[in-house]
Amino acid sequence: MNDRTKPTKIDPDDIGHNESANPSFDTILAARLSRRNFMLGSVGTGAMAVFGGVSLGALAGCNSDSDSVAAAPTAPTGTETLLGFTAVSKSLADAVVIPDGYSFSVLCALGDPLRSATPAYGNVGTDDDYENRFGDHHDGMEYFGLSAAGTPDPASSERALIGMNHEATTDETRSSFFLHADGGTPSLPRPAAEVDKELAIHGISVFEIVKSGGTFAYVQDSAFNYRIHQNTPVEIHGPARGDDLLVTQYSAAGTATRGTLNNCGTGKTPWGTLVSGEENWAGYFTRNATDDAARTAAGYAKSVTALKRYGRAQGATSRHGWETGGVEDKYRRWEISLTGASADGSDDYRNELNTFGYIVEIDPYDKSMAARKRTALGRFAHEAASFSIPIEGKPVAVYQGDDSRGEYIYKFVSTKNWTAADATRADRLAVGSEYLDDGKLYAAKFNADGSGEWIELSIANPAIAGYATYPFADQADVLVNARLAADAVGATKMDRPEWSAVNPANGEVYFTLTNNSNRRLNPTGSQVAPDAANPRVYSDVKGTSTVNTGNVNGHILRIRENAGEAAATTFSWDVYLFGAESIANAGINLSAITADQDFSSPDGLVFSASTG
Ligand code: FEO
Repeated sequence: MNDRTKPTKIDPDDIGHNESANPSFDTILAARLSRRNFMLGSVGTGAMAVFGGVSLGALAGCNSDSDSVAAAPTAPTGTETLLGFTAVSKSLADAVVIPDGYSFSVLCALGDPLRSATPAYGNVGTDDDYENRFGDHHDGMEYFGLSAAGTPDPASSERALIGMNHEATTDETRSSFFLHADGGTPSLPRPAAEVDKELAIHGISVFEIVKSGGTFAYVQDSAFNYRIHQNTPVEIHGPARGDDLLVTQYSAAGTATRGTLNNCGTGKTPWGTLVSGEENWAGYFTRNATDDAARTAAGYAKSVTALKRYGRAQGATSRHGWETGGVEDKYRRWEISLTGASADGSDDYRNELNTFGYIVEIDPYDKSMAARKRTALGRFAHEAASFSIPIEGKPVAVYQGDDSRGEYIYKFVSTKNWTAADATRADRLAVGSEYLDDGKLYAAKFNADGSGEWIELSIANPAIAGYATYPFADQADVLVNARLAADAVGATKMDRPEWSAVNPANGEVYFTLTNNSNRRLNPTGSQVAPDAANPRVYSDVKGTSTVNTGNVNGHILRIRENAGEAAATTFSWDVYLFGAESIANAGINLSAITADQDFSSPDGLVFSASTG
């Protein structure tokens, strides 16, 4: 038995592995700010971008910046339908606080059974059958309307399916871990029974809800209900399907894996499926302390570079020790050292890490269809995915963020042009394959003058094909190691890109950049050097203690594609809103947000369906 050192409490999102020399967004932002009278004056309803959907009025206000490179947003048509609630006051109370006139109820909680054959959740540490219960750490979710006949009906507000992520679980080294009877085993090896529960509570739930008496409740035993957990078969799709990089003992053909992990943000495709982003998946795997030499000796030397770039240096320990649950394959897969004798990796899990880090598409209406990992959209710490406004005869774009310090913003553009009839086809995942398995992946480069470029991540690009740091073999390699490809083309390091949202009125794209604790006035190591003109480098002080430093509160970026084309390779950009405490000085509170608007670390972002 090995004692496990209680890990330092850190946010897994907040670990940077990007040591490339690419310019950071902060540097460029500083230059941009230096020539602009930026965002001065009140933003009015702008805080609704974070708390209640971006209001169209806020866009108009933002456009009062006369030096903005972005052209004026298109005036929306139709009637603005704001919810009209009264903002609630800030509070540190451990309570749900909602505006007057609203009510809330709990729809589903960890452990609630999806079928009546599974006992009610006792919350006493002895519950089992988690494969048929709601998982832990509910995160991104999407609503899929359902008709009375049980068919897709986007307009339905009475009956629906919800697709919901279960991102993570509590650290078992906390004595209060509620999942296990004894509070969990904080040492290795982990008991199989504990690991089995933890494998089951990560993933996705799909469940039916019905409104009755004005209140939604989930429908236990609905034929639509299902779970995806870490033992659920999942298909690999797109250009990397069958590639050498995806060969494992589970799938010698490199076409399949099990589960989807650390699912954070979500998105909804124009054809009615759920997409889910695998975010901090790397931390669940371990490598032994001599794996670099083993890989090098076996001809896998370049995989060491890739593993480090994705946060798995040799000797890295796993988040929960799942690899110690037993000798069964479902446990061994979390140990990704090269241990087998095969030349292709079909007798160990040296390539298992390459089967995670994707946008995963599932059909909420058909649980018989296996989920599909869309490799064409690149592999990184995916947050959410937002879709361009589908226009007949035009490609579809998917906007994506890689949430880690100093990582990039990406765009995928489909080869297939949008066909409106695809929105209602019954073979939804086949439609998904038509749009999401064939296209071009780009990384964003932000220029100081407010322009930007989408740089294609293609093996045909000499900067990628000749990249000295990592010898890409082919396009599949570029997609599986998209971070390295983006390094190679000089993409711009960002302050942890989280969700994005596309304005349904004009197609503009908003990205939340949640914060960056890796900026310092006097940087060392991998810290990011600020520019004197950049007001976003500061310390958050509580009393006499500095509790955070860097870009503490984050900001929201706005992108306008050239000529409004989703497939454009150039764009203009500006900062829509800076997070800050309202009491901060003007050098920090750049957007002059007030006490009933102030916010920090913007993350989830969505336009309501009624906005347009
Ligand atoms: Fe799971 Fe980037 O938040």
